[in-house]
Amino acid sequence: MEFFELLRHRRTVRQFTADAVPQDVVVKIVQAGLTAPSPNDSHPWKIVAIRNQSVLREMRGAVEKKLDGLFPKVSGEKKVSFDKVKTFSTIFAQAPLVLAVLTRSYRAVVDELLEGSVLTHDQINVLRKNPDVQATGALVQNMLLAATELGYGAVWVSGALVASEQIDGLLKGGEYKVQTLVALGKPAVTPQPRPTPEVKEYLQTLD
Ligand SMILES: Cc1cc2nc3c(=O)[nH]c(=O)nc-3n(C[C@H](O)[C@H](O)[C@H](O)COP(=O)(O)O)c2cc1C
Repeated sequence: MEFFELLRHRRTVRQFTADAVPQDVVVKIVQAGLTAPSPNDSHPWKIVAIRNQSVLREMRGAVEKKLDGLFPKVSGEKKVSFDKVKTFSTIFAQAPLVLAVLTRSYRAVVDELLEGSVLTHDQINVLRKNPDVQATGALVQNMLLAATELGYGAVWVSGALVASEQIDGLLKGGEYKVQTLVALGKPAVTPQPRPTPEVKEYLQTLD
């Protein structure tokens, strides 16, 4: 698809057919992700492709339990919001495949200045607005665009990360910790492409 058309056609898909996602498709999507820029070209990622439905069920259970613990006494209108949050945080479990994006601590040139300084890597990372998280966004967007180009649909799922500790326990990534999830499959419904956005509300130019 032409690039700017592809941008408009990439829409969130939350309903999937039961078709499996072939491994060559997974490889192409992950390759697209890995062309993303990262701080100091560190590529601090590992991508875990989860097809195992019992692992996905365990992940869903961990997210539901965590949400129940975080919001134990919701009722009335809040219950409606709670149910929505639960649905959107566990939607990944309905996909035939989930790509978990894990990151580890990266090293940038600025880290060379930290020895003997009062600053830690984590502090400078926060001051710089978490370049590793920023780069993961670029990786995920590349994967979503590649999925669209290949005829697949995907949903980016950050809601599940309330249970990231439990998810890390299931994924066993060692020093790599889950940063976000992308659920993927053949779309059961094809969403409308997004109209071209109105830029003037968002763009400010300092001449
Ligand atoms: C960082 C991020 C986190 C998101 N987390 C979730 C999520 O946890 N569950 C979900 O169903 N959708 C999630 N989404 C999808 C958004 O709801 C969706 O992108 C938005 O409504 C715009 O729709 P579009 O992707 O079709 O343009 C997330 C999107 C982003 C960018």
